[in-house]
Amino acid sequence: MYLTIKIMKKINIFLSAAGISFSLIFLSECKKEASSATSSTLGTTPYTLATPYLFPSPNLSSQDPLTVEGIKLGRYLFYDSILSLNGHSCSTCHIQSRGFINLNTSLPAPLDTTLSRIMPLFNLAWQPYYGWYGQYPTVDLWAADIVNGTKILDINIDTIVNRFNRSKIYPALFNKAFPGQNVISQDKILISVSYAISQFARTIVSANSPYDQYKQGTSGLSPSAQRGMQMFYGDPQYDINGNIIQAGGDCYHCHSSTLFTNNDFYNDGLDSVFVGKNRGRYAITGDKEDLGKFFVPTLRNIGYRAPYMHDGRFQTLMEVIQHYNTGIKRSSTLAPILTKNYNNVHLGMTAQNMADLDSFLLTLDDNKLLTDTNYSSPFKH
Ligand code: HEC
Ligand code: HEC
Repeated sequence: MYLTIKIMKKINIFLSAAGISFSLIFLSECKKEASSATSSTLGTTPYTLATPYLFPSPNLSSQDPLTVEGIKLGRYLFYDSILSLNGHSCSTCHIQSRGFINLNTSLPAPLDTTLSRIMPLFNLAWQPYYGWYGQYPTVDLWAADIVNGTKILDINIDTIVNRFNRSKIYPALFNKAFPGQNVISQDKILISVSYAISQFARTIVSANSPYDQYKQGTSGLSPSAQRGMQMFYGDPQYDINGNIIQAGGDCYHCHSSTLFTNNDFYNDGLDSVFVGKNRGRYAITGDKEDLGKFFVPTLRNIGYRAPYMHDGRFQTLMEVIQHYNTGIKRSSTLAPILTKNYNNVHLGMTAQNMADLDSFLLTLDDNKLLTDTNYSSPFKH
């Protein structure tokens, strides 16, 4: 259990900034319960998460090891509105056939003012932080924040414990995932639910795009996508007067590795004044250096994810590309790598260069993710 006091404070700062009251007592409860949940994984079947070609090792939790039974319970919970009083389940907003987002940008009030664009759920086992601001800090406990802390599901623990204990399926599913829990009790519920959902979500892997097939040598890329790939990995070149000699997108510095993220926070020049949800990571750290900085999202499955950015301000990928080409806004926290766009110096991409980059980005779309039955609702079968 490595939820330190500092992180707890950060969560609290974020949540109170978001107008949400969140009790530290709840987190210390988690702390107490964490060890009992792990010591009871005896009798479960370990699950090994395969590491796809060219992926680094996943970020596994020692507190909440993946088990076949835990993943199964998590999958049921993910798709079940039993966890909420407002009729939502995780799958209301994270819809598999849409790459685990929801095209609808508007969240129910009052969440619309405190939360941002829905984030997709895949390759989470390779992320060190969760949320646009990194506000859900640990791999195994973010679901507790989401279930309880953010009020997304609007739960009442008493009601949910009663529902679980009356359910025909859950007592057995809990008992198998966390042996000994045939009676679902109030003090264990959040930690078990969190661990199970997090286990399921960590098994959602996306690594079967045309780009992956190209890297494995099993298929080619179109000439346009190949030129776009050169843009993606190319640095722009300027003469001493700042005139462009060679165009380059320079995307790979932040959207790096096969994960297409460097797993860090940057200000990518969307705004020069930071208010409300545009404050970025500052909202949880209170550090001015973090104003306007957001977690660098993966670009995998980006074709399914419009509208783009934390607030969904861009409707198309071409608008995003135009932003990087000529639209960067200056501020003190702007990523240094983007400062070359000053004084009318931009990435120098022509319409053709931008169309090519767009084609390359679309090679990161993995159709298999949208229909893989390992991730689909267990209630449909
Ligand atoms: C009402 C819509 C909604 C529901 C329901 C919902 N989420 Fe989300 N989810 C969001 C939004 C919005 C974000 C982005 C939050 C932010 O950072 O501002 C998000 C972000 C996340 C993230 C972070 C992803 C990343 O890449 O960092 C995870 C994990 C997640 N949700 C899991 C869940 C789980 C598990 C459930 C069910 C317990 C759930 N969500 C229910 C809207 C929703
Ligand atoms: C300095 C780091 C950095 C560089 C360089 C960079 N990005 Fe980004 N990118 C980010 C961050 C941070 C975000 C999230 C910003 C937000 O939502 O406020 C982002 C978001 C995006 C998104 C939207 C993702 C979503 O989930 O909505 C796309 C698409 C994108 N970038 C493509 C590119 C392309 C193409 C390039 C090269 C032309 C590029 N980026 C260069 C940091 C960077």
